[in-house]
Amino acid sequence: MKVVLAVSGASGAIFGAEMLRALVCHQVDVDLICSPVADEVAEQELGEGIGCRVARVLRETGSSAQVRSLDYDDFAAPPSSGSYRHQGMLIVPCSMATVGRIASGAAPNLICRAADVCLKERRPLVLGVRETPLSTIHLRNLLSLSEAGAIIAPAAPSFYGQPETILEMVRTYCGRMLDALGIENDWAFRWGS
Ligand SMILES: Cc1cc2nc3c(=O)[nH]c(=O)nc-3n(C[C@H](O)[C@H](O)[C@H](O)COP(=O)(O)O)c2cc1C
Repeated sequence: MKVVLAVSGASGAIFGAEMLRALVCHQVDVDLICSPVADEVAEQELGEGIGCRVARVLRETGSSAQVRSLDYDDFAAPPSSGSYRHQGMLIVPCSMATVGRIASGAAPNLICRAADVCLKERRPLVLGVRETPLSTIHLRNLLSLSEAGAIIAPAAPSFYGQPETILEMVRTYCGRMLDALGIENDWAFRWGS
């Protein structure tokens, strides 16, 4: 199984890092695309860039899943083409700038191009959007993307599992992102279980 994971420059770098952990822990191969601002935000929020955090996650999990980092500006990378097969794409955290670019169809970078391909190929595209409050422009863009088939999954963890740490909150959210791609997991707190 292979998934495209994109990390953009919204707050919540920990969601991107833990999403990567969730995927590799479930033996899912990952094509990883990070925006330049995602790296700056990771430095600010995690105290290390995305590259260092990815290496750390892989070391800690010891998973044999493959993680391939793709260049943000490389339009010749495999997810640029609909002929390249994968099970879907997650963008988390997803900035409103990236939402606007995908909604416009302009696809000026590999994250937006790969998302555009998911929409045209009718493959799962899950957007872990993070911004508050949302402007009317954001809401219009999100509606367009939802109408085009994207799943809008705000990075807003649930509280009914009574999480005690930020990590627990983030991980139950990541479990719900795996759910959205149909990946069996025990990361999501299940109401009634
Ligand atoms: C520390 C930091 C936090 C940010 N948080 C958000 C956010 O939560 N949501 C958002 O839409 N943009 C946020 N931004 C602004 C985006 O980084 C900016 O719009 C950028 O153009 C996004 O580009 P990208 O989507 O290509 O990564 C933040 C920027 C910084 C530096």
